[in-house]
Amino acid sequence: MSELAVSILRGEEWAEYLVPLQRHQTVLDLVTWIQRHRDPSLAYRFACRVGMCGSCAMTVNGRPRWTCRTRVEDVAENAHLRLEPLANFPVIKDLTVDMEPFFQQHERAVARFFPGGGDGDFACVSPGSPARQRADAGIECIGCGVCAAACETVAAFPGYLGPAALNRVWTLVNDSRDGAGRARLAAVAGDFGAHGCASHQECSEVCPKHLDLAGAIAALKRTAFRAALTGGR
Ligand code: FES
Repeated sequence: MSELAVSILRGEEWAEYLVPLQRHQTVLDLVTWIQRHRDPSLAYRFACRVGMCGSCAMTVNGRPRWTCRTRVEDVAENAHLRLEPLANFPVIKDLTVDMEPFFQQHERAVARFFPGGGDGDFACVSPGSPARQRADAGIECIGCGVCAAACETVAAFPGYLGPAALNRVWTLVNDSRDGAGRARLAAVAGDFGAHGCASHQECSEVCPKHLDLAGAIAALKRTAFRAALTGGR
């Protein structure tokens, strides 16, 4: 059986491992093998293993990815893999990062549903309506943080609200049942909100769910700007 050389950044040091290769092995399988067979103190995070919970994200050969759906054979370079914790997050230990800043971004962006919208909380929203389609296009975010790890604005300005929270806001702006309207637009209108986005597109390029986060932020910029001019939503 052939082996793969794996380097894992653990604090300031790189640890080296040789891992037996198996067919269809994911990067998460490989990390689990190392923890079970080589070093039980290796810290990493996962829950669902099927691309739903968003907890397994790491930097794989320099690029943030969800590791439970990333096959080793697709990303190994010269039979070698380099694993690091997600960039732009405080590291707790080894491959585990603190997601608190990410959740705080959602909090500051008012990225949650508020009842009391114009159409009522139980309004029937047609799946074919343009607003519903705009909201549905961004709703499958699993909160993995891969977009924030790739974002140059998050790296440069820690106060920036980040692509995931702004994308969530865009889905809510298009939800006619939501009642936060102008207050939410005001929360995302400043330089640390949608207008802070430099439109480099990294977030859309790395999103494992293929969400057009940069497009959502651009649309949010236009909507927030229009609302500021008109004083309405
Ligand atoms: S472990 Fe849940 S998304 Fe990877």
